[in-house]
Amino acid sequence: MPSLQWKTTALAVALLQLITLSMEAVESSSSSSLSALDRIHQLPGQPQVSYQQFSGYVTVDVKKQKALFYYFVEAESDPASKPLVLWLNGGPGCSSLGVGAFSENGPFRPSGKALVRNEYSWNREANMLYLETPIGVGFSYSSDSSSYVAVNDKITGMDNLIFLHKWFVKFPQHRNTSLFITGESYAGHYVPQLAELMLQFNKKDKLFNLKGIALGNPVLEFATDFNSRAEFFWSHGLISDLTYKFFTSTCNYSRYVSEYYRGSVSPTCSKVMSLVSRETSRFVDKYDVTLDVCISSVLSQSKVLSPQQVTETVDVCVEDETVSYLNRRDVQNALHAHLVGVNRWLVCSNILDYEFLDLEIPTISTVGKLIKAGIPVLVYSGDQDSVVPLTGSRTLVRGLAEELGLKTTVPYRVWFAGMQVGGWTQVYGDILSFATIRGASHEAPFSQPERSLVLFKAFLEGKPLPEVF
Ligand SMILES: *[C@@H]1O[C@H](CO)[C@@H](O)[C@H](O)[C@H]1NC(C)=O
Ligand SMILES: *[C@@H]1O[C@H](CO)[C@@H](O)[C@H](O)[C@H]1NC(C)=O
Repeated sequence: MPSLQWKTTALAVALLQLITLSMEAVESSSSSSLSALDRIHQLPGQPQVSYQQFSGYVTVDVKKQKALFYYFVEAESDPASKPLVLWLNGGPGCSSLGVGAFSENGPFRPSGKALVRNEYSWNREANMLYLETPIGVGFSYSSDSSSYVAVNDKITGMDNLIFLHKWFVKFPQHRNTSLFITGESYAGHYVPQLAELMLQFNKKDKLFNLKGIALGNPVLEFATDFNSRAEFFWSHGLISDLTYKFFTSTCNYSRYVSEYYRGSVSPTCSKVMSLVSRETSRFVDKYDVTLDVCISSVLSQSKVLSPQQVTETVDVCVEDETVSYLNRRDVQNALHAHLVGVNRWLVCSNILDYEFLDLEIPTISTVGKLIKAGIPVLVYSGDQDSVVPLTGSRTLVRGLAEELGLKTTVPYRVWFAGMQVGGWTQVYGDILSFATIRGASHEAPFSQPERSLVLFKAFLEGKPLPEVF
């Protein structure tokens, strides 16, 4: 059982590290001044706001000088009474700062030289913490480039755990705040894995006040998630009846991806995939099949989930606002960010060498463990996404509910945002929820910000989604 052994050793090592950290925390008498150093005075072009923002680095490995970059936005009002929410984007290797904060649910979006306010920012409901992880993503770096090689889910999980623990040393006032972990896409791996680590550490020392997790268009079990793509394409008119037949019987998508990452795509799969690619075309955004291609490169956050698209990238995007903004020297100075070992800030890292086969680790079972430990889970789906379609997620959630013997507590029904249907929802055992967001892409808060905020608020409050308007 080499993997189990690995886990035990790694846990012991990390445990020691955390104990050391806890002692450091006790000894550091001026921790509030630590966060003061990270305080953002003003982001270039930013409208005046009354809440505080912070950003900077947390060293997660002193020997290898691994430092993770974070951006923290206090809740718009009464931050002391609001929960703390960690947001993670996927990839693996894409930035929670560029995608999550500046394109999805953060307080501002770049527009020309300025930042414009996002009226549906999630900091209306919570203190929002965005983390660029793993090492090598965005402004996060290691001075030892071997740290970028063979990075996997285990390393990422442990680094994220250590990050958060050390972040609490800077922000001790949030140590006891209700903590939620949220994210999308490949964060369907990061989030449950981090939550599971927290529960393991909590057994010894109650370090993390974890209250729930939310996963948007997440990869939870790659075969179910990926093979739902064929039907999504077919039912949305992106592929023909015949190609659908080949894509479900001759070579399905999970088989293709699995061959692709083992470096040996069979002639059969190659033929089917070229049919699929030809019919779906490069000129439709797979993250929202109703959109014209490429609103922004920031939104194509997943190389791993659509490997065939790597070789056929289309760049009809004009100026990419977030990329330009985060590459400005004055912006980097205001954020206390440095570029180490790279020339530019990128949406998705090109120096990170991730263990792509970790994609096949089923994290739906990890979600099951969290539920058994009493942690509420929300799985939500932007319903226009073909990369991780709602149908796969819905199947996985229902299957998990059955396995755990959870009865339906909210039957499948619509929910409202304003006077319109925001999507559909079903809840099992008052602890496991599924919801769609109508008209939303893979990056749901980007394309349906108002509906996403309604969903987020209900999730934090532990309430069912609005049944009437
Ligand atoms: C957090 O809670 C623990 C016990 O519940 C308490 O001892 C500690 O003082 C609290 N810390 C803060 C910063 O509120
Ligand atoms: C996908 O293909 C694999 C390998 O051929 C097969 O084992 C699996 O059952 C297929 N899954 C679906 C949903 O068709």
